[in-house]
Amino acid sequence: MYDVKKIREDFPILSRKIYEKPLVYLDNAATSQTPRQVIEALVDYYENSNANVHRGVHHLSQEATDLYESARVKVAKFINAREPEEIVWTRNTTESINLVAHTWAQEHIGPGDEIIVTPMEHHSNLVPWQKVAADKGATLRILPLAKDASIDLSDIDEYITPRTKLLAMVHMSNGVGTINPVKELTAKAKKMGATVLVDAAQSAPHMPVDVIDLDCDFLALSGHKMLGPTGIGALYGRRELLEEMDPFLTGGEMVLEVWYDRATWNDLPMKFEAGTPNIADAVGLGAAVDYLQDIGMENIRDHEIQLTRYALEAFKELEEELEMFGPSDAEKRGGILSFHTDAVHPHDLGTFLDRDGIAVRTGHHCTMPLMRSLGVIASARASFYLYNTEEEVDALVDSLKRALRYFTDGAK
Ligand SMILES: Cc1ncc(COP(=O)(O)O)c(C=O)c1O
Repeated sequence: MYDVKKIREDFPILSRKIYEKPLVYLDNAATSQTPRQVIEALVDYYENSNANVHRGVHHLSQEATDLYESARVKVAKFINAREPEEIVWTRNTTESINLVAHTWAQEHIGPGDEIIVTPMEHHSNLVPWQKVAADKGATLRILPLAKDASIDLSDIDEYITPRTKLLAMVHMSNGVGTINPVKELTAKAKKMGATVLVDAAQSAPHMPVDVIDLDCDFLALSGHKMLGPTGIGALYGRRELLEEMDPFLTGGEMVLEVWYDRATWNDLPMKFEAGTPNIADAVGLGAAVDYLQDIGMENIRDHEIQLTRYALEAFKELEEELEMFGPSDAEKRGGILSFHTDAVHPHDLGTFLDRDGIAVRTGHHCTMPLMRSLGVIASARASFYLYNTEEEVDALVDSLKRALRYFTDGAK
């Protein structure tokens, strides 16, 4: 039985008051909250095991190394990587994608090649490819957007062709919630000999993600969106690709042997982890993965489908005032509701909701081209997670109704 009340008790911040109102935290697509189990893992690490990793023969260093490496094993299992060496620690999704852009892409993308992205990429999976395309004389192609803010697949065979060198796509859109058919598109791209990168910043925290089943070559995620600390993320890469790639950053840890004039590279994954890594936060992310797996990713996904369905129904009361983006079927989207009205600027809506203790995100959500395609410059976005409830959706809808009345009638 999914016990949301019990889950909420694990998150100290959820009992906070904002302007004397209970906090309703609906900005999970930006950053999720942290359960006590993760906070305790961090405190325990600093109180009992803090030392540098892979360097010392002393007991603490070995203990820190064990904790750090066992977190890698947890993340590998979480996304079903074949081996922990296929998990490279990074700061976040952005750094994971940049790692690929600065290493693999430098060797493999050339003049005349095509890089394909979806029309709903976060800037972090768009701007790096704009730069690679410009530097290498390649072409960046954007898949078309359908009316319901999914990918229009009608002409897909004209996009994914033998010229496609890389397909880089977001699994779940942070801007509108759409879940993309990543497995099908990967299969198509692979047939053409392309390499596939999946931005799993929004999917990995909210649904089962399996790199073997998806058959992708690279996958990027951020710890802070999946109950973990900020400043830690991961890049999954297939061993064959990681083996042949040049390092990203150079210096200590990532080398095997160094002479005054040259060096050789360390084994995977250390070849990509120069300098002292973010040990404590990796350990914290390992605890977050334990927490998510104890509840079960299928159960979390089911909870969010139900909550999204409930919210989509509740928003029907506002359908004359608000334009909603994204697929109307809760099974085809994540728990992300993005909405807009010409009558009120999203920032004003967000400020009104904040006064009711409700945290939503307003703006372009780092998806400016998507917002332009939808004909708006910004939207308001409520995004759910495993601890959100139907009562919180009711509070959101109630506050929105009052906000719309306030701004359009001047009535309070
Ligand atoms: C889909 C998607 N990709 C990439 C990112 C970038 O994540 P980070 O800022 O953790 O690097 C985000 C963050 O919102 C996102 O939602």
